[in-house]
Amino acid sequence: MAESITITDNRTGNSIEIPIVSGGVDAAAWRKLLPGIWFHDPGMATTAVTSSAVAEIDGETGILRYRGYPIEQLAEQSTFPEVAHLLIYGELPTQAELDEWVDLITHHTFIHENFRKRIYDAFHYDAHPMGLLTSGVAGLSTFYPEAKDIFDTENRRAQIVRLIAKMPTLAAAAYRFSRGLPFIFPDNANDYPTRFLKMMFDVGGEYEPDEALVRAMRVLFILHADHGQNCSTTATRVVGSSHADPYTAIAAGCAALYGPLHGGANEAVINMLTQIGSYEEVDSFIASVKRGGHRLMGFGHRVYKNYDPRAVIIKKAAHDVFGVIGKNPLLDIALKLEEVALADDYFISRRLYPNVDFYSGLIYQALGFPTNMFTVLFAIGRTPGWLAHWNEMIEQNSRIYRPRQVYTGSELRDYVPMEDR
Ligand code: ACO
Repeated sequence: MAESITITDNRTGNSIEIPIVSGGVDAAAWRKLLPGIWFHDPGMATTAVTSSAVAEIDGETGILRYRGYPIEQLAEQSTFPEVAHLLIYGELPTQAELDEWVDLITHHTFIHENFRKRIYDAFHYDAHPMGLLTSGVAGLSTFYPEAKDIFDTENRRAQIVRLIAKMPTLAAAAYRFSRGLPFIFPDNANDYPTRFLKMMFDVGGEYEPDEALVRAMRVLFILHADHGQNCSTTATRVVGSSHADPYTAIAAGCAALYGPLHGGANEAVINMLTQIGSYEEVDSFIASVKRGGHRLMGFGHRVYKNYDPRAVIIKKAAHDVFGVIGKNPLLDIALKLEEVALADDYFISRRLYPNVDFYSGLIYQALGFPTNMFTVLFAIGRTPGWLAHWNEMIEQNSRIYRPRQVYTGSELRDYVPMEDR
């Protein structure tokens, strides 16, 4: 017998049977039985807003796969441009396809000089780089007005390439602006992570990043590349669903990522570890978290109720980086926090485990990135994921996002003149 559910409206006795298809039930059947009664689901925790073939996440068992490929295998064996191709086009590229793809991305890394000089220079010297990046991505749409033609497949591909290629350039330019350092042009002779590290840190043409650091950067970009219908991807889709151009939609993704409950958590983790300050203070910090004083940043996840598989890979990458650079002094505090939390009933009963952000900030800091760049790094990594979902949504020709609400405000009342209030 096919799997299904039956809903009964107890006011009328009417019932409707809805088949369960691929783990979902069709809300259109609900609407038919219960017109004007909305499924109340704050934070969309129980609502599948789309069907998607990009990433599979099983939060119960701690599984993450991009287009069917386990994240562990991709982090170990793939490159970031190859993963971007996989996410957007659904398949690992052949060598010829990969060569063409990498060549395109390599040759679209430059940003218009007006952009850097007039737009970034307009910001205050201590502006947060996520503010620059978010505005910068939105500003790019004005340089490529043809991007509005979103139903032309070739045009979409051109904007996808531009965005993946230019994000590191925008990010590095934001950093160098905040430091008062001269901008460094992207070097086409380098691979994606090396090019980015050089644009960030080179002074006088002497910076050559250690291979272990390039590897860590590659792994971090891959681990952040997609995560299903997360907050920033949803923001990208919401804006994209109105048929805005992809730069505007991705700027919405950047804006959503900025918050400390999402991509801003890696920055918040470092601030938290710095505030704890020493190994000895961990127990009292955990006690204050349990009293509701604050959250343990980098812990907990809406979907993962088991260890976040990305956190396992990042923890290992952290040790590799520290082997080259020397240990980040905050690592001991992080390890003790994890040990204490994982043995504590508060965290066990709520199934709170380290997420991707718990260790990523420690690596970023060891690589030399200031904390306010951490979310920017996340944004570079997530760009192919945002674009894959945007592209999939346009191909599916899906409807504009327009959720309902359960109204709890005042009944009808008459306007009260000022003197009578
Ligand atoms: N520290 C302490 N308690 C926590 C934490 C935490 N980090 N996370 C959740 N809880 C508690 C809540 O207080 C709540 O307890 P209660 O049932 O007694 O009220 C319970 O666990 C469930 O928490 P919710 O807030 O309902 O979980 P939700 O799924 O809405 O939130 C989130 C998920 C936002 C990630 C949350 O766990 C959090 O704030 N974590 C810290 C921030 C963070 O690390 N964010 C990065 C997420 S990964 C990413 O975006 C890349």
